[in-house]
Amino acid sequence: MKRDLLSLADVTPAEIDSLLSLAIDLKARRKRGESTPLLADKALAVYLEKPSLRTRASFEVGMVQLGGAVTTLRKEEVGLGTRESAGDVGQVLSRYYDVVVMRTFEHDDVTEVARHASVPVINGLTDLLHPCQILAALLTLREHFGSLSGLHVAYVGDGNNVANSWLLGAAQTGLRLTVSCPPGYEPNAAIREQAEGLARGTGAVLEVVEDPRQGVSGADAVYTDVWASMGQEAEAARRAEIFRPYQVGTELMVGAASHAVAMHCLPAHRGEEITAEVLEGPRSLVFEEAENRLHAQKALLAFLVNPEGR
Ligand code: CP
Ligand code: NVA
Repeated sequence: MKRDLLSLADVTPAEIDSLLSLAIDLKARRKRGESTPLLADKALAVYLEKPSLRTRASFEVGMVQLGGAVTTLRKEEVGLGTRESAGDVGQVLSRYYDVVVMRTFEHDDVTEVARHASVPVINGLTDLLHPCQILAALLTLREHFGSLSGLHVAYVGDGNNVANSWLLGAAQTGLRLTVSCPPGYEPNAAIREQAEGLARGTGAVLEVVEDPRQGVSGADAVYTDVWASMGQEAEAARRAEIFRPYQVGTELMVGAASHAVAMHCLPAHRGEEITAEVLEGPRSLVFEEAENRLHAQKALLAFLVNPEGR
């Protein structure tokens, strides 16, 4: 039975733990110059409806480092939903590829492709979720702090796809997560409810508050993302006003733990959701997290496509 990764709720806490361990192992082997051809002769399709640097590059390079091949397909060529149905796209891709990454606006498009595909489908970001980003963030925190146990993460800003995936990621790994956001910009209610359900099994504590100072108070990691996501460009000016108190700068970081790290999924807008000083400062793990997209997703590809072949 094929497995998909459309959401961090699609894997168990134990599976997330072994994915992160495999990512650490693959990263160490790469740094030692060892090759890891776990997916030799396998092929990955990356389908993109939105722009991407990290997701495209890290999946392409990751698949090559695992000994496989990659094709990146853009919406203009495929015409998902216009030239042909999501179901047909899922069936056809399964005839050529062993795994598919999808970045779409509508989350339902990825779900629909996955429903018709006989190969694993990975969510490479939708308007609702961005699970690969949070896998990389969890990997980065585990490396930095040695363990995820007992960590308090403060997500500051828009309750968007990254915030939604943080709720699920924190719920699955037993973290304390405090999201601070302006009223009306909270994370998705259904995802929050799902995360609360998962948290009951792991002891995670999930909070949503309005005040960013309260949100970051004592936190081990302060995480932020753009105020206007891809597709919300027309709202950017209005959002910039609403979100101004949520900027992650030195002043806000003072309220976090003295050892707190700053994180961002990138791309960043310096001077908006994060200051250049924090993004480029000594407490920033931003570029470590970007690198870890590669290692986390290699583990994910190996887990989904070749679960026996560590
Ligand atoms: N963080 C992230 O997903 O980056 P891209 O949009 O460049 O892929
Ligand atoms: N929330 C952002 C994340 C980009 C990686 C967006 O959807 O544009």
